Amino acid sequence: MTGSTTATESQSLQADLRKTTAATKNASAPDVVKGKDDQEVLYTPWRLAFYDFWVLGIVTSYAWCCPTTTYLLPLFRANVRKNHLDIGVGSGYYLDPSTVPATTKLTLVDSESHALAVAKVRTKRSDVTAIVANVVKPLPLSQKYDSVSMYYLLHCIAGSIEEKCGVFSNIKIHMAPDGVLTGANILNKGVKQDNFFGAWIRRGITKHGILHNQSDTAYDFEHALRENFHKVETWVVGSIFIFRAESPKI
Ligand SMILES: C[S@@+](CC[C@H](N)C(=O)[O-])C[C@H]1O[C@@H](n2cnc3c(N)ncnc32)[C@H](O)[C@@H]1O
Repeated sequence: MTGSTTATESQSLQADLRKTTAATKNASAPDVVKGKDDQEVLYTPWRLAFYDFWVLGIVTSYAWCCPTTTYLLPLFRANVRKNHLDIGVGSGYYLDPSTVPATTKLTLVDSESHALAVAKVRTKRSDVTAIVANVVKPLPLSQKYDSVSMYYLLHCIAGSIEEKCGVFSNIKIHMAPDGVLTGANILNKGVKQDNFFGAWIRRGITKHGILHNQSDTAYDFEHALRENFHKVETWVVGSIFIFRAESPKI
């Protein structure tokens, strides 16, 4: 049974997807602009239903020792400006109306349309632009954003550290001259040894193709940020690399 999906699980996933699609329609969210980068679905409605409680609550606090509400959410909130782009939306936890003001113009980018549909519902807004795209490739964006967020995105990318760091130069061309980028990701090298729970989670999500961070270090990410932005601040809390970078070097 390991690694396979049972008929019951499959039916349950399909039912969840139907519910999400219906919820999206009911919320009269705009259509997802679907591109050719809609790759393998990892963030299924079933996984996203538990995401906030499990990943952002339990795992982030007790495996990575970096509670979301203490470190990540305040950074996100403090750096949302009037035209905001969120990349790698997941469940849309950060996009709740209590976090993103109604006056902020909001664009969402994700490689999975399921996640975009769930996140759009979470915004409780009908004026959100949602685009399916892969952040490692040139992005189909025509605006300049004042603020960009990418939380828990880079460790999902199955590529070399150079490819991951290429994301910064990919994004900066879509930012205003004084624009700000914030984000966070799970490190592998150069951080304290995982506790028992952290080691178990790390093994599991690496095995299931959710975590791709074997060679990720704070040094490499900070170096790449400094190459692409004039002002850079970084922090390591537990196993999490947190960053804020302002004024792209164009
Ligand atoms: C771990 S979730 C993070 C969700 C949210 N930002 C958070 O911090 O809770 C990662 C999200 O990034 C998306 N993603 C992964 N690789 C991507 C890529 N190459 N381009 C765009 N989105 C990607 C996934 O579909 C998923 O929605």
